[in-house]
Amino acid sequence: MNNSQLIELALHARNMAYCPYSGFAVGAALLCADGSVYTGCNIENSAFSPTNCAERTAFFKAVSEGKCSFVKIAVVGGNAENEQPERVCPPCGVCRQVMREFCSADFEVVMAKNPEDYKVMTLSELLPESFDKREVK
Ligand code: THU
Repeated sequence: MNNSQLIELALHARNMAYCPYSGFAVGAALLCADGSVYTGCNIENSAFSPTNCAERTAFFKAVSEGKCSFVKIAVVGGNAENEQPERVCPPCGVCRQVMREFCSADFEVVMAKNPEDYKVMTLSELLPESFDKREVK
């Protein structure tokens, strides 16, 4: 699964975004070490704080089905009226922390506008000096 293919899946998932409050649609596609892919979209709520980001939707789907080893995630987000985002969408801080729970420092985050235009950063670049499970004994 190359980056462009993973971005295509994230764009497809973005079509499912439930974002009536922000109008900002996000899709994610998470590649597991066994080659399987779990997708997710953002799911908003009228009470706002229960909103779940696309990245966490993908992670929680995967973990809930027994997956716990991950390679990379593609993320696409932007105004829901545009078929493809105009800018890349970096994951929010909460999603970075969720990634840290399950992923190593070299986990790749592919932030894309479309399958040909994207930026890749590692989790350690996005979340340096992170708090993780080694801290909690
Ligand atoms: N959102 C995501 O799905 N992922 C991110 O990393 C950033 C933000 C969603 C949450 C909310 O539904 C909308 O984008 C606007 O913040």
